[in-house]
Amino acid sequence: EEVSLQGYDHYMLKEIYEQPESLKNAMRGRLDEENATAVFGGLNLTPQQLRSVERIILTGCGTSWHSALVGEYLIEELARIPVCVEYASELRYRNPPIENNTLVFGITQSGETADTLAALRETKRKGHRTLALCNVVGSSIAQAADGGVYLHAGPEIGVASTKAYTSQCCVLAMLALYFGRIRHLSFEAGRNIIRDLQQAPGAVQEALNCNEHVKTVAEKYKDATNILYLGRQYNFPTALEGALKLKEISYVHAEGYPAAEMKHGPIALVDEKTPSVFIIPQGTTYDKVMANMEEVKARGGPIIAVASKNDPHIEAVADDVIHIPDVPAIIQPIVSVVPLQLLSYHIALLRGCDVDKPRNLAKSVTVE
Ligand code: G6P
Repeated sequence: EEVSLQGYDHYMLKEIYEQPESLKNAMRGRLDEENATAVFGGLNLTPQQLRSVERIILTGCGTSWHSALVGEYLIEELARIPVCVEYASELRYRNPPIENNTLVFGITQSGETADTLAALRETKRKGHRTLALCNVVGSSIAQAADGGVYLHAGPEIGVASTKAYTSQCCVLAMLALYFGRIRHLSFEAGRNIIRDLQQAPGAVQEALNCNEHVKTVAEKYKDATNILYLGRQYNFPTALEGALKLKEISYVHAEGYPAAEMKHGPIALVDEKTPSVFIIPQGTTYDKVMANMEEVKARGGPIIAVASKNDPHIEAVADDVIHIPDVPAIIQPIVSVVPLQLLSYHIALLRGCDVDKPRNLAKSVTVE
């Protein structure tokens, strides 16, 4: 069925703007306030299997792999279950020893990515429970897995994934809540997590207000040939995802790094022609990331900061500031990626690129 642009210039922009709605759809019927937990209809795990999980492997490719990194932080923090994140293309051939009571989640928008499908089949063959975290209903990976969770993000047409990514982060947060609540997490803590999650659609809506400003930032930096993206903790995957978005659609080289790793290499790239995008919302590592930012500034590197509104210090250090609402840590990756999606969109447009169908890329990669 043809999906119309509904007045937007591109599918990517439409899908970026659909995120408040796609997040609501990801959560619809899944937040159980009475029991302060999440509910999923299709995990197909017995109570015994649920309680005995000792490890979770999250696997996927591209943007889905980035959401797996967010999932690692969330599940380890909220559910205290050890998590491994694996590129599906590596997992399928590496043949790692996998302990009993391991759950393997294949994360995929399309449900058709060949490497993710093969990695799930391979782990299933070895007797592990496999689950799909997937957008396309009835897709190959959804069918191959023992159970799973649909994203309900609606069709994603733009090759660069946007709304599927934020929905993946949202579903992973709900899974972390769910596994946490059948372990140590208190009723009170569960209820607070639900409240945090419920803020996500509104916060993304507010973050979208930065679009006009992001456009002016894009005009300023559109000719850069190299851009660094730096963030920490929950926003380290955001840095990777921001850099990938830029590479995919504007063909500008970009690297995402954990902010504190910068001093071990990438800082050598910093000069007046190499901008750095810092993802620096309020939180426990704010001061540390600020110190990294000052190091870049001291070396003459232009700085674009994605920061919480009302941050009183940021304007003094960054050249350009994009404000996002101040939100709890667990939904930060969902909110802070929005300006980065828009930045790549505008830079790509200004460089004359085909944002919805970038060269050399496919929406789903069904070959190895
Ligand atoms: C392709 C797409 C990416 C996507 C990746 C994984 O490379 O261009 O946008 O992140 O495949 O796709 P999946 O459908 O498995 O999430």
